[in-house]
Formats: sequence, C-alpha cells, structure tokens
Amino acid sequence: MVLDILCQHNEKFLKNKNENKKRVIMENENKRRIIVSKKIKIGTLISGGGTNLQAIIDSCANGEINGQIIFTGSDVPRVKGLERAKKAGIDTFVVDYRQIIKSAKEDMSSLILPDDFNIEEIRAKQHLICKDKGLDKIDFFLKSRAVAERKLLDNILPYEIDLLVLAGFMRTLTPYFIDRINTVPDRHKIMNIHPALLPAFPGTDGYGDTFRYGCKVGGCTVHYIDYGEDTGPIIGQRAFQIEDNDTLEIVKQKGLELEWQLYPECIQKFALQLLL
Ligand code: GRF
Repeated sequence: MVLDILCQHNEKFLKNKNENKKRVIMENENKRRIIVSKKIKIGTLISGGGTNLQAIIDSCANGEINGQIIFTGSDVPRVKGLERAKKAGIDTFVVDYRQIIKSAKEDMSSLILPDDFNIEEIRAKQHLICKDKGLDKIDFFLKSRAVAERKLLDNILPYEIDLLVLAGFMRTLTPYFIDRINTVPDRHKIMNIHPALLPAFPGTDGYGDTFRYGCKVGGCTVHYIDYGEDTGPIIGQRAFQIEDNDTLEIVKQKGLELEWQLYPECIQKFALQLLL
C-alpha cells in the first residue's frame, strides 16, 4: 500500500517535472525566435484612407510587430494614408495609375515598356484576366500595368525590403511585378488583406458582396499574392456575425475592426519566421 502511494507520487512528480521541462523549452524557443528574428523591413502600398496602415504603424511602434515600415507608396495622389505615413516619418511616393492608363488609352504607342518586359511570358503566367476577353484587352491591361509597375519597382527595389504589405492597395499586380519582388523560389514576400472570407467573394467589394448575398457571417482574410486575383495562400482569417438589422456600413465597420487586429498578427508571424 505504502509502495503504491510512493509509486503514484513518483509518477506525478516525474510528469510535472517533464511538463515543466517542456514549458521551459517552449518559452526559450519563443525567446530565441524573438532574439534571432531581426526587425524586418516592411514596404507598404495603399490607395486610400490607410486605417490598416495606421494599425501596422502603431503595432511597429509598440513592438507588437518586430519590424519597421520603410516606405508607403500609393497609386492615388493626396490620399489620407499618405498623410498618416508622413506623420509617422515614413518615406512616401505616388505612382499615378489613372494618369498612366489614361495616356495609354489615348495613344497606346506612347507607352514606353520596360526593357525586361516580355508580353508572351507575362500573358502565359497571368490568371487575372480570362482568355475569352481577347488578346487586345489582355495585352492592353498587361502593358499599361507593366509601365506603372516598373515605376513602382524603381521606387521600391532600392529599399531592399523583407516584406511588401498591401494595405488597401486597390490595384491587381501582374506577374511582371510579382516576379521582381518574389526573387527566391517558393518564398512569398507580398501580403494582402481582403475584406471577405476567401475563397468566397474575391474582387474589390468583399464586404458589399458578402452583405448583398445575405450571408450571416462575414470576415477578412490575409493572404499572399500570387498570379491570380485574391487566390494566393491564406495566412489568417477572422469572422464576425452579421445580424438581421446590420447595415452595410455596420458590416464594413465590424470587418475593419477585425482587419486591424488580424493584419499586424500575420505580419508578426512573418517577422518571427513562423510562416515558412
Ligand atoms: C480594407 O477593407 C481592405 O480589406 C481592403 O481595402 C480596405 C482598405 O481600408 N483591401 P484602409 O485604407 O486600410 O482604411
């Protein structure tokens, strides 16, 4: 009887000891990751108000992201997000897509394509525009975007960033641009936040499409960018309930509040090399 009690006691002691040991190993591993992972250099692209950009600026400042935003680029001049970046002391630049596309529409021959642009290669890789649209439409899209994307790259590449974060950047990126950022095979470097639970409702109006479809649950998704529209590997998702009397405005607000939490969390996972 005494021996039994002693044995049980011993087993419990050993179990606790093992669990403590495991806990210490895990704590040390987390500390190591934080020490080992350097502060990552983050580039950001926006098109508008930049509330996600603000959440990322704040998370870098308070240490929730082990990183630093190096620049903010916009495809639209004078948006509020650019002011937010300047206020935080971040370099900014603008590549005016609308202007470039307008000039291309007026006179396609005026487009000066990048030296390293190969239309056959980019056409074969892209999944953004359906082949049924016809070659002219596809080529116009790819060529005009390549001109804008070359300007983006000229601004971006000198910074040698670890991660490019699309924070409400409302332009699709073609394989021409993606291949010049993702230079290491199988290593994604471009992250996006989408206002719906992908793969449902890709495109520009995720919350609107979710609401109009009559969904009872909405959400947001952080994913890597690939050659399709909102089709890249999913990193994180967050969902919310849509109540019967919710308006579209309420749905958007619920979604955005989750985006401001989810995006910094996913960027921090990247910084800690937990996504490799
Ligand atoms: C967000 O809803 C994001 O999911 C979508 O565009 C919106 C940008 O908002 N891609 P903000 O500029 O970050 O306020």
